[in-house]
Amino acid sequence: MAQSGFVKVADVGELAAGDVKVVEVGSDQILLVNVDGTIYALDDICSHAYASLSEGDLAGEEIECPLHGSAFNVITGEALTPPADENIRTFEVRIDGQDVLLGPAKS
Ligand code: FES
Repeated sequence: MAQSGFVKVADVGELAAGDVKVVEVGSDQILLVNVDGTIYALDDICSHAYASLSEGDLAGEEIECPLHGSAFNVITGEALTPPADENIRTFEVRIDGQDVLLGPAKS
């Protein structure tokens, strides 16, 4: 059952460690990432221009934008390398049984 303020966006089984998945929630495109068994959620759209981070390379906690190569920390949303200089939003995630629940933005 969904918890207040949280919506189901995926099943746990859809995201093995190292996997990414894009979900649409309202008008937002959200990137789910499994880092070593823990699922994190952040904006999928790069803060520099319009590119889907899900199409970039994931290495550990970092994902590289496919367009100009900025790296972001998928846990904190921090922009690590230029040209992006704005962090991206991260979201609360809860696991309820087999459900991945997305909550409000953390920042
Ligand atoms: S669009 Fe992502 S770094 Fe330019």
